Amino acid sequence: IWNLQRAQEIIARHKAQEGPMLPILHELQDRFGSIGEEAIRLVAQSLNITRAEVYGVVSFYHDFRQAPAGRHVLKICRAEACQSMGGEDYAAALLHSLGLEWGQTTKDGRLTIEPVYCLGLCACAPNAMLDGQPRARLDATTLQALAGEAV
Ligand code: FES
Repeated sequence: IWNLQRAQEIIARHKAQEGPMLPILHELQDRFGSIGEEAIRLVAQSLNITRAEVYGVVSFYHDFRQAPAGRHVLKICRAEACQSMGGEDYAAALLHSLGLEWGQTTKDGRLTIEPVYCLGLCACAPNAMLDGQPRARLDATTLQALAGEAV
C-alpha cells in the first residue's frame, strides 16, 4: 500500500547520488509492488523533472510495473534464443488464450504475464520463470500448463 512518508524516505536516501532515478524507482517498486501515478508524481517533483520523463523511464524498462502484479508472475523469455525455438509463438498463443497483452494481469488477479530478456538458460530454450522458478524447454502445451499451475 502506498505510503507517502516511506516513499519520501526512499527518495531522500538516493537523491544525492549520481543518476538517482533508477535506484529510486527500483526501491519504490520493491516496497510498493508497482510504480503508480502517485509515485511518478512524487519522483518528478523531488528530482525536479517532468512526469513525462519519469513515465518514459518506467515504461522503457521492463522491470517496472505500473500496476500491482497478480498473485503469481509468469515471466516468459522473449530474447533471441528462446524466440528462435518458438517461444514467441507459444507466448502469443498463451496470451491470446487468456485474453491478455504483455504485462497484464488476469481479471481475477491470479496471474501476470511479463516479458523477460534472457534468463541465462539459452541452451535449453524456450524458457520462462514462474514466481522466480525457471522452467526450461517449454512448448505450447507445457507453457499453457505452467500458466495453469499458478492458482
Ligand atoms: Fe531465453 Fe536466453 S534467450 S534464456
